[in-house]
Amino acid sequence: MADVIKKNGEFFRRFNPLRIIEHQANAITFIVLVVTGVSQKFHDSAWAEWIIMNLGGIDNARIIHRTTGLVFTALTLQHILTGSYGLIVKKWMPSMVINLKDFTDAIDNLKYYFGITDMPARCDRYDYKQKFEYWGVVVGGVLMIMTGLTLWFPTKVFHLIPFLPGQIIPAAKAAHTNEAMLALLVIVIWHIYNSVFSPEVFPLDTAIFTGRISKERMIHEHPLEYERLTGEKLRDDAGSEEGKGPEGDEAGSAP
Ligand code: HEM
Repeated sequence: MADVIKKNGEFFRRFNPLRIIEHQANAITFIVLVVTGVSQKFHDSAWAEWIIMNLGGIDNARIIHRTTGLVFTALTLQHILTGSYGLIVKKWMPSMVINLKDFTDAIDNLKYYFGITDMPARCDRYDYKQKFEYWGVVVGGVLMIMTGLTLWFPTKVFHLIPFLPGQIIPAAKAAHTNEAMLALLVIVIWHIYNSVFSPEVFPLDTAIFTGRISKERMIHEHPLEYERLTGEKLRDDAGSEEGKGPEGDEAGSAP
């Protein structure tokens, strides 16, 4: 079954090879899109001119951006289709779906950070911060695809939906360019911090390369999943009641 975390010595399997390839493919296409897109946005700057000239000129930069945009579109579509198929047909556990516990976990962690309680939130396969980032990527990705295709094929958009106002084109440009900057900042500040510079993983969180994490990290970061997979109880207070997680006992997950 896809994405099942299996006990493997002192390590737990977290990502299957397909998920690992998917992540690296997304990372590479995102970097190419940022380099070729942001250099067009700031074309007046010396660094942007340097990038564009080294890509062989503005026409090449635009061709690379659009072609990579198609790869990004294909990756996003395959992710959404695979995830939907897994959830609906294969009955994967909806581990990326936001639920009420994510909100109470965020409040519990705030209380913990302020010293009001002794115990941090007990999270399952994905915690609320990971879900927030995941949905930001999915929703932001769909927005980039829709606005990118609108910029690429402006007349086709009006053939498809004739009643759209003309302002949709400058609006698509504003959304595309600003969401690009937002995505870049979120990746550089949030994602790179969490996966490289955070004291808990420094110098690198290798989980997305090896597909596995240590038992210590499982217990620390995903105690509910650890309890579900091992049948072991980590603590005896009221929190242990949640050991089977809000989605039931089926081991499996959304992508
Ligand atoms: C996360 C992914 C993406 C990022 C970060 C990104 C970034 C950018 C940026 C910064 C610009 C310049 C906007 C400006 O001049 O103000 C741009 C332009 C453009 N982007 Fe993207 N983009 C992404 C995905 C896509 C996709 C998926 C497509 C199409 C399928 C696309 C198609 C375009 C087009 C057509 C332009 C106008 C420039 C041109 O004619 O080539 N982009 N992009």
